[in-house]
Amino acid sequence: MEDHIIRVKDPCKPLEFDLSRPLEVEVGCGKGRFLTSRAKLNPDCDFLGIERMLERVRLFDGKCRRESIDNAKVLRLEALYTFHYLLPLHHIRTVYVFFPDPWPKKKHHSHRLFGPLFRTALWKRLEKGGKIEFATDHREYFEEVVEGFASDTRFEAIEPMPRPKEVWTEFETMFREQGLPIYSAAWRALDVEEYELEPLRIPPEAEPREGIVRRT
Ligand SMILES: C[S@@+](CC[C@H](N)C(=O)[O-])C[C@H]1O[C@@H](n2cnc3c(N)ncnc32)[C@H](O)[C@@H]1O
Repeated sequence: MEDHIIRVKDPCKPLEFDLSRPLEVEVGCGKGRFLTSRAKLNPDCDFLGIERMLERVRLFDGKCRRESIDNAKVLRLEALYTFHYLLPLHHIRTVYVFFPDPWPKKKHHSHRLFGPLFRTALWKRLEKGGKIEFATDHREYFEEVVEGFASDTRFEAIEPMPRPKEVWTEFETMFREQGLPIYSAAWRALDVEEYELEPLRIPPEAEPREGIVRRT
């Protein structure tokens, strides 16, 4: 069986997708527990995980091979760049962002995924009416994200998806076992005026970083 890892040959060329099929995308999909189980339940939809840690990408791939899942793939790349340049226009049905790194120290907040640049690229990739589902254990980050969407006229808040045990990710399982509260929210992309994406300019202090994230 072919592997499930997308290899980007030209980082300036948008990836190709079968546009006759719906697409769901998970940012920071980790080892893929959530996305692979959704892929098994929804064979008529394609699923893409975006994950920058190689080891987790390999585990995602291994899971797809063992369980013969042929409608899920994983891309080892930074999410903001991927949304800005590589995903199809207004095609994604749902984007899931579960337990993104919270970068708890103030001096690291610029590394957080959610911000104006991500929302701007996200709206261009979601189909009109497409959804974004978000969950985190980090209250302060949650409030910041909710505030950002509330001030953005391209999105409206909707009821988040239910969170029974079957949809828990690896991190959600760990946090719930520790008794931590989980905060979740969701939004829909509205049919507003179209715009072009400007070339991505990331300030040096916000450059993507790998590393250990200390939870304080
Ligand atoms: C805290 S973990 C959560 C993993 C998974 N969503 C879960 O809930 O079990 C965050 C994941 O997002 C990945 N990640 C963080 N920032 C990313 C980015 N900008 N682009 C792609 N992956 C990212 C990390 O490598 C890590 O696997």
